[in-house]
Amino acid sequence: STSEITYRPIYHFSPPQNWTNDPNGLVYYGDKYHMFYQYNPEGDTWGHMSWGHATSKDMMKWEHQPIALQDYQNGDGTSTMFFSGTAVVDKNNTSGLGKNDGEIPLVAIYTAHIDSAGKGISQSQSLAYSLDGQHFTRYDHNPLINLRTTDFRDPKVFWREESKQWIMIVAQPLDYRLQFYGSSDLKKWNLLSEFGDKLGDKSKIWECPDIFELPVENEAGVSKWIITLSGGHPQQNGNLGMQYFIGSFDGKTFIADPLPYPLYLDNGKDFYAGIIFNDLPETDKRKIMIAWENSWEYAAATPSQGFRGQMAVPRELTLYKNEKGEYRIKSFPVREVNNYRGNLLATQNSVAVTGSKLLNSVTGNALDIEFVIKRSSAEQAGIKLLKHGENQTLVYFNKIDNTLKIDRTKSGNVSFSPKFPSIESVPLPDDGGDIAIRILIDNNSVEVFANRGKQVLTDLVFPVSDKVSYELFSTEVATTFKDLNVWEMKSSME
Ligand code: FRU
Repeated sequence: STSEITYRPIYHFSPPQNWTNDPNGLVYYGDKYHMFYQYNPEGDTWGHMSWGHATSKDMMKWEHQPIALQDYQNGDGTSTMFFSGTAVVDKNNTSGLGKNDGEIPLVAIYTAHIDSAGKGISQSQSLAYSLDGQHFTRYDHNPLINLRTTDFRDPKVFWREESKQWIMIVAQPLDYRLQFYGSSDLKKWNLLSEFGDKLGDKSKIWECPDIFELPVENEAGVSKWIITLSGGHPQQNGNLGMQYFIGSFDGKTFIADPLPYPLYLDNGKDFYAGIIFNDLPETDKRKIMIAWENSWEYAAATPSQGFRGQMAVPRELTLYKNEKGEYRIKSFPVREVNNYRGNLLATQNSVAVTGSKLLNSVTGNALDIEFVIKRSSAEQAGIKLLKHGENQTLVYFNKIDNTLKIDRTKSGNVSFSPKFPSIESVPLPDDGGDIAIRILIDNNSVEVFANRGKQVLTDLVFPVSDKVSYELFSTEVATTFKDLNVWEMKSSME
């Protein structure tokens, strides 16, 4: 029955209890991945924002740690919250915060948000550091950057070797403006430049920026700089998602390549506030993003039990040049996800389907599903997921408009918010080629990756039962599905 369903995923990160939104300070330090995250120590809706903390050997199995940075009261009746930010390994002790020889400080730079009776009155960038990766001390001379404004947040910092400088990107959300600052010691910062783009999606404020360089995988010797940020969605209309810009960065200024339209990382409704890990081991060149799997549109109302909020699986971002000569990002689950594959529930080289075909060996709500759709003249061809009676989530190729769609309008409990029931689409290449699909299902989470991450749709769902079945379908005429593999996923929880 519904009351027993907690909607807690088993291989996606969720907090032990209470509320989370953005991941913060993703960093590799002391032989572990660290994830900090926006956390309310006092409840399962937004408030008292602090940094929760978890560590992992593989970005999948997380060990919960004590709260790293907790909101506090000031003498004047205001309180300071820890909004989103970054963490860097200061391996040369440029900050001087490592007091003893060889001590490597882990430096967190966050937005100090001052709250006065429920109203934000100031946001500035501040610093706290740790010498053991667990206990943090606030810097004595905070804030580092204070523009005396209410909306100035979400710093992301990285080390730029060429200029031996720390670079910060930070948002002025209401102005759709990003700023770059430079520093030699993580404490004193100078404004380098500003970035705004008239072609960017401004249907929502801009938050949580990041910047990083990616080689073009199918063009030797070429690499581009990427800015990602949260705000805007392909369907706009109040929805939230992540967009990106491609361009160049010389250590001071980002210059965007001209774009005919905004670009998005994920066309689903539940992928927001993603940032890239800092300081991965030297041998690991990947750019790995973790994002909050939710939407401000309804996040406070989702019907999970005992906690609220979770992260999408870590995704590797890569850059490629498409058939039209345009650079685009792909995002695909990191290979570590595959280690959580358990029993192979179904495997089939080829199956022709007309109408619906039950996958009779497939059940459960934590699965990794792969198949290839050979395009046919069927109007719709795809899969019914998490099916229980009339309830189901559909993922299908829609021939009429050449898109891949996810339909959660009948996915189960959709009534907690009028914004929730929805159908999302992502355009597919119009070359008539096969469509390779991978779908990760984890209880309340559906992540769809087409063509190894060229098209992505991430949506939460809240099925009414965990007794579920799966069906391939093709309307009217036959469609051939190839290379079907379905694995049960194992839990990554402690
Ligand atoms: C994004 C965000 C950030 C902010 C944080 C507060 O989801 O609004 O801009 O730092 O959440 O919790």
